Formats: sequence, C-alpha cells, structure tokens
Amino acid sequence: MEPLGLRAVGSHCSLSEMDDLDLTRALDKPRLKIERKRSFDERSMSELSAGYGRHDGLHDSPRGRSVLDTPLSSARNCFEPHPMMAEAWEALRRSMVFFRGHPVGTLAAVDNTTDEVLNYDQVFVRDFVPSALAFLMNGESDIVKHFLLKTLQLQDSEKRVDRFKLGKGVMPASFKVRHDPVREMDHLVADFGETAIGRVAPVDSGFWWIILLRAYTKSTGDLTLSETSECQKGIKLILSLCLAEGFDTFPTLLCADGCSMIDRRMGVYGYPIEIQALFYMALRCALSMLKPDGDGRECIEQITKRLHALSFHMRNYFWLDYQQLNDIYRYKTEEYSHTAVNKFNVMPDSIPDWVFDFMPLRGGYFVGNVGPAHMDFRWFALGNCVSILSSLATPDQSMAIMDLLEHRWAELVGEMPLKICYPCLEGHEWRIITGCDPKNTRWSYHNGGSWPVLLWQLTAACIKTGRPQIARRAVDLIESRLHRDCWPEYYDGKLGRYVGKQARKYQTWSIAGYLVAKMLLEDPSHIGMISLEEDKLMKPVIKRSASWPQL
Ligand code: GLC
Repeated sequence: MEPLGLRAVGSHCSLSEMDDLDLTRALDKPRLKIERKRSFDERSMSELSAGYGRHDGLHDSPRGRSVLDTPLSSARNCFEPHPMMAEAWEALRRSMVFFRGHPVGTLAAVDNTTDEVLNYDQVFVRDFVPSALAFLMNGESDIVKHFLLKTLQLQDSEKRVDRFKLGKGVMPASFKVRHDPVREMDHLVADFGETAIGRVAPVDSGFWWIILLRAYTKSTGDLTLSETSECQKGIKLILSLCLAEGFDTFPTLLCADGCSMIDRRMGVYGYPIEIQALFYMALRCALSMLKPDGDGRECIEQITKRLHALSFHMRNYFWLDYQQLNDIYRYKTEEYSHTAVNKFNVMPDSIPDWVFDFMPLRGGYFVGNVGPAHMDFRWFALGNCVSILSSLATPDQSMAIMDLLEHRWAELVGEMPLKICYPCLEGHEWRIITGCDPKNTRWSYHNGGSWPVLLWQLTAACIKTGRPQIARRAVDLIESRLHRDCWPEYYDGKLGRYVGKQARKYQTWSIAGYLVAKMLLEDPSHIGMISLEEDKLMKPVIKRSASWPQL
C-alpha cells in the first residue's frame, strides 16, 4: 500500500537565533534535509488535538497550572531543527546493521573509545525501538520491516539454557550478524538469555515486538505485514506465554529479576510495573491486529478478559497518591476473607520514610511492584510513561503522573532526563537487594541513574497529556550536554550531572531517543504510532481520589 501524506520539509535554522557554538557546528555540517512523513491515520491528529484541548482548558486552571517556566530557548521557534539533529542522524546511520544487503537493525553502541565491547555490538530488540520510531517518522520503514521479519524467524529457532528448552514464543534479547568469509554468507546469531550476564529472561522483547509491529502498521498503512500468517502466529506465540492458565491469583505477570531494560538484579522480581505496563500495551496492540479466524478468535477472547482484569488490578492496587498513601499508613494487617481492605497484607511499617516527603498533595504514580506483603514504593520512569501511552492510566491518573513529575522535577529529572527509578538503594539495602552489584551503586546505572533514552517516552507522555512544555524543558537539558558528552548511555549522581561510571559513548538509543523526542514535538501527529486512546469499555473502578484531595 502506498504510504499516505508524504511531504518534504526543507529544514533550516535562522542564523540570528543560533548561538555562536551552534553556528560553528552548523557551518561544519551539511544542512539537515529530512523527508518527513505523517502517520497515515488522520485519527492521530484528532486524538492529539483532543490532548491539547485538554491542556488548553483544564491545565491553565489553578488545578493543573504548570509550575515550570518555559525556558527561553523553547520560546524561540521550536520547530527549527537544532544542529544536534544532523549529528544524531549521522550517528544513527553509522549504527545500522545489514543482513544480506538489507538493513535489519542498529547496534546498541558504536563506541570506539573502549575495547570492552561486551554485547553492545548486538542489535537489542528493546534498544531498536526508538531507532525504529525515528526511521518510521522519517518515512524509512524498510529497516523496521526487515527487523520485524528477522526477529520473527529467530523466534522460531530452538532456544536452550544449558539443558533447559525455553518457551516457543520467546523473542530474543538481542542478535548479531555473523559473516562467514568462506561461504560468503551472513548468519544471524541470537541471544535469548543463554549468554546474557545473569542469564536473564528478556520478557519485554516480545511485548516491544508487538508494539513495534503496530507502530509500523499505523505509520505506513501497510496492513499486509501484520496480516501475514507468520506475524499472526508470532503474536499468538508471544501471548501464549502470558495467557496460559496456571497458579496465578493475580492478572499481572510474574517475572524474575532483570527481565526488562533493568536487566540486572535490582529487586524488581515479582510484578514489576515496567513489565505490567508493556504487557497491557502489547495486549491492546495485539487486539488491534489479530484476525478473528480459527485460534485468533480464542486469543482475542482471552486478551479481552485479561485486559479487564489487568486494568482493574493496576488502577486500584498499583496506584499511589497522597490519599492512598494515608490509607496504607493506617492499614490493619492480618485481615482474612473477602472483606479485607488490606488485601495483600502490606505492613504499614514497610513504607519507607522517603515516600512521605516525596508524595505531593497533587499527583500520583504507579508503584514499582505489588505482591503478597510486598509493595515496592519506588517510582519507575518507563512503567509510568508506558501506562500513560497505553491508557492503562485513566485520564485523571495520567494527569496526576505528570503533576508529580512537575512537582518532583529536581529529584526525577535534575540536570539530565530521566531517572530510571527513584530513589536509589544504598548501604545495607543495596547489598541485600542488588547482591552487592558494583555497576549498580547508588545513583548509578539502573540504581537511580539518568538515562537519556527515556526522553522519548517522557516526550510522548507529555504530548499525550497535552503538556509539551514539560518535554521541551527536558529536551533543553539534553541539548545542553548530550552531544558534548558524546551521547552517553547513562549519567550518574543525584542530579544526573556526571557521565556514568561505565557508560558507553555513542549509545544508539540515547541518539535515537533524542531524535524521536524532537520529531514528536515538531509533528505531534506522530504520537498515534505509540499511543492508544482510552478504551471506553474499560470503566475506571477507582474507589478513592485518583490524584489529590480537594483542599
Ligand atoms: C544494558 C541495559 C539494557 C540494554 C543493553 C544494551 O544491558 O541494561 O537495558 O538493552 O545494555 O544497550
């Protein structure tokens, strides 16, 4: 199918509006000439104006008033490309990986400053997502299509850890292209966790694959890919791993530690928010693509039931705001029977001190984990952003998540967007929970480090909730450092001021995340690719205030 609405944009920067540094760089670089393409479905535009409508109306009221000042640079014409854009495109293209002449993905990092490559020379499924979105937004869908097809073939291969055979639906964490010089042939070699540090399971890979397939379909209008029997089968195989009946008493997905972007021991085992939000989003994306024939119909029914149960569970039990925190603080324990208020038997003494100070009167978030006698109160960026994008969060909850982000800007963003989680683990807690991991020391890496890649998710969440000014402020911070620091993987410190201890340079998803954020702000209709509107059939069942009490 012919992609609709292709338009060429001749981009240029007005010289008077560039500072000296920008000017020197711009003179060195070829002018950025990008062909941009609109999402094929015009619905995304109306979805978006609805978002902005909400912003214009509600959020200029005292309730939603932004506490941020609009930065000066953003007050300039924000649609003019920053010189960093051209640099980022060049770096992104340098990371492209080819298989038998076709582009199939991007390397995790192209860091020539270190010999310690580890597995950063591979195409990670989760890392490729922002690259894919950047390419789709730029009208280059080939690489995304090839990636989706190649990873689908890899799913079909036999996977083992020692003598244990993994589930059929598992998608690889990463893969690399090996060239056989004798036979002059390329081969794909995948890693499903069997060589990964800690042998961690890439639970998020399959979810990202489904989400990306929908993004590709939505962006190109090419239904022929998602409708192939191979793709239909791939979706069903991924979901069969999650929808099978077992011993579960909750609709959330039980996971081992290190099963997602946080792929080391960080105390996220159980029911981590990142996986639950991605699971919910993948279920909804699958629902929009599955054909109701044969076993497709059965799968659709299972998905629909699970979505209902999952949204109820998450919106009620994972949601934390001032009111809910106060309720938990006053919980009775050891309640038996259906009348229990404290259903999971959470001990009020387990509430950490920091959360009482952290929680604003206005705002809220989905906590990190909920299970029997277990509530992880940490705030996680990805889970909360994806909850907004997938509409797992109700509109009120989405607004409350953004309110909290504004109120706790110093803690969650500081000098570099965005903290992967807050707060960090230290001392005894760090020893017990991370197993003394020297890479995850306090305010570093997964333990409260700041990850530029999260900018794209933050920006998308801002646009969805009609609050792009928050994203612009984050983009300004990124533009003041990322290029100068050679696009690091992560930053360390309470404010995210220091380039991470072991951070790679030229980390591809830091580069692509920046491009996606910029393109989203420039043409917000792109949001349709990675956002799902509220499902009206899924009525919110919130018994308490969704965000803050009326004072
Ligand atoms: C690290 C990160 C992981 C990422 C990989 C490649 O292992 O923790 O999230 O996918 O590097 O960049």
